[in-house]
Amino acid sequence: MNPSSIQKYRPFPPVHLPDRTWPDQVIDRAPIWCSVDLRDGNQALPQPMSIEEKLEFFDLLCRIGFKQIEIGFPSAADTEFNFCRRLIEENRIPGDVTIQILVQTREHLIRRSFEAIAGAKKAIVHIYNSTSPLQRRVTFNDASREQIRDIAIAGAQLVKDLVPTLPETEIVLQYSPESFSDTELDFALECCNAVIDVWQPTPERKMIINLPDTVQWTTPNVHADMIEWMGRHLAHRDSLWISLHTHNDRGTGTAATELGLMAGADRVEGTLFGNGERTGNLDIVNVALNMNSHGIPTGLDFSDLPAIRVVYERITRMTVGERHPYAGELVFTAFSGSHQDAIKKGLDRRDKELTRAKESGSQEILPWGVPYLTIDPQDLGRSYEAIIRINSQSGKGGVAYILDREHGLDLPKTMHPQVGKTIYDLADQQGRELDADEIRDAFYRLFANIESPLALKDYELVHSTTEKGRVDCTATILLRDQEMTLHGIGNGPINAFVHAMESAGLKDVKVTDYRSHAIRGGSDASAAAYVQLQHDDGRLLWGCGIDPSIEMAGLKALVTAWNLLR
Ligand code: KIV
Ligand code: ZN
Repeated sequence: MNPSSIQKYRPFPPVHLPDRTWPDQVIDRAPIWCSVDLRDGNQALPQPMSIEEKLEFFDLLCRIGFKQIEIGFPSAADTEFNFCRRLIEENRIPGDVTIQILVQTREHLIRRSFEAIAGAKKAIVHIYNSTSPLQRRVTFNDASREQIRDIAIAGAQLVKDLVPTLPETEIVLQYSPESFSDTELDFALECCNAVIDVWQPTPERKMIINLPDTVQWTTPNVHADMIEWMGRHLAHRDSLWISLHTHNDRGTGTAATELGLMAGADRVEGTLFGNGERTGNLDIVNVALNMNSHGIPTGLDFSDLPAIRVVYERITRMTVGERHPYAGELVFTAFSGSHQDAIKKGLDRRDKELTRAKESGSQEILPWGVPYLTIDPQDLGRSYEAIIRINSQSGKGGVAYILDREHGLDLPKTMHPQVGKTIYDLADQQGRELDADEIRDAFYRLFANIESPLALKDYELVHSTTEKGRVDCTATILLRDQEMTLHGIGNGPINAFVHAMESAGLKDVKVTDYRSHAIRGGSDASAAAYVQLQHDDGRLLWGCGIDPSIEMAGLKALVTAWNLLR
């Protein structure tokens, strides 16, 4: 920012709270959650939801487990009013879910809101008026503190008078000093206490004081100080639920909420994936999954997060970014070699520990511990398959991981560098990521069943009946278009074939390693074999053979390695 612009801005005053206690608190239980997707979220959409879309979203929120859902601003528009009526008249609200409606502290709007919720079994009536000096000056035309406080009192009184008109509805009352985040604390307290005084909550009949971080003007620690300060000074604290409603202007909605909970709040309002005005509301998914990752149950079920995201994106017409915590396409993906290596080791070790625990009959649940992954992707409906992806930054382990997990090819460890380097060089040349099938194709093309300059056309192996392990090999090969029949004897097919090659003068290599396995998940029940050869000049290379016959796979691996050394 240029020097003259910077002078427009002022520091935000901190709260004087030297004996603050929140920094030492630990979040050890979930708050009451309230989704405001259908109100704050919806009102921020370029194309707000239709009634049908709101109904579908409401069902989604209920399935996730929200017990309090702000469904809209019924006095503001017919769609909002009609949506509320449909929920009630069509009996769509589960018995354990409370709908919440928002209304400004204005008489005709409050009356209309009570008409909207008539017949509901349970409802939260949420009133608000804006309290900050900036809003008092600009929006309310230099209104005084007393005028603003009296607006709150008048609204609260009218609400109190209307509650008995809906005897079948269990009503909880909620007040928000809107723009709390830049309201003088003593004045926010004055407004809240004035409303508390009108509503007279008790520990058995609590009310909600919602303290919105309407616009984030400062750091989350100051927000936490404000919440702790309010909690200490509000009247009838034992008869209140203190609620947080953070927005995300400084990108710290989650941090502000977490510190606000440490500072004593009981309840959290927010939206799925943080939809909401400007930079959005608090992302409840983020905070809830942060809690899950510390072993705290939340009552919210995000075990199929991809499916939730699909519904969310369709209905809101918003997109969840690729790096969005927990939900983004790439957040469980590693491209860098060292990360891939560590993740692969972590997952492999976990597999082994789980198998060992199962075999020993242990019921103990193994703590999660995989480098770079704070949570098990499978717990959110994500698979391990996408964890490791290959581009030019990837390491040897990543390619081997994909070939193993996706294509059932368990390459010997010392083959990883040879294959990994070639394949990520390929990604580098192409300047893009290679998908799992492209990696398999490249592996088959460059490291398996290579038939030039030497091709194995036919072979016969005769296992000796008198000498254990002795094998006679007769092979027909094609070397640079010249067909030859070779013969050799050895203590196994590979060894016999090497001797056969030696008999034809092709003896500049020796076999230094070999392994084979059935290809996991392959439809054609093929085997894969890997042979490492050392050339007389010292070079070591692996080749792979793939064939329904394990013997033929071994010979093809040898021929491949021989060809690769040429
Ligand atoms: O952000 C805000 O202050 C609000 C209030 C109406 C609670 O949405
Ligand atoms: Zn808001």
